[in-house]
Amino acid sequence: HFDRHDSFWLFGYGSLIWKADFPFLERRPAWIHGWCRRFWQGSHDHRGTPDAPGRVVTLTRDPYARCDGMAYRIRPEVLTQLDMREKNGYLRALVPVHFDAEQAVEGLIYLATEDNAAFLGEAPLQDMAAQIAGAHGPSGSNRDYLLNLAEALVRQGVQDQHVSTLAALLTKPA
Ligand code: BEZ
Repeated sequence: HFDRHDSFWLFGYGSLIWKADFPFLERRPAWIHGWCRRFWQGSHDHRGTPDAPGRVVTLTRDPYARCDGMAYRIRPEVLTQLDMREKNGYLRALVPVHFDAEQAVEGLIYLATEDNAAFLGEAPLQDMAAQIAGAHGPSGSNRDYLLNLAEALVRQGVQDQHVSTLAALLTKPA
């Protein structure tokens, strides 16, 4: 249980990478093994509406993949705030979080699996880009979500073909 510790690591692979609007003690680029970032989760409360849901990232299992992101060391009480923000179908899971080849810690991730009601799953990239381009919600446009994520990954030196391809489809004139 998290409350028995003074602090623990939270691994962010989506908006947590570029929108750290919560207090943290430390932040480090990190990665997790066996997971892959995909725009497969629907968002009807943040980056879309029930009528026009947006698409946000979740993780899918892939034994050969590595997902790069940002790890934050936070105090347990910060989770209460985050659980509110991330309620739309995400669960918590614990995974090994790697800082470099030698060093890993146990960290928390938010995960939306295919059995949650908002899960959308795979679609052709062109269709996903079109859906993202047309979705807006209380947290802003789905387009900004994707472009902010793509930009943050590039800035961090991370190559993510799924994200960069979607971003390119979005910014390409029709
Ligand atoms: C993330 O950045 O890791 C994240 C953000 C919102 C929901 C789930 C995960």
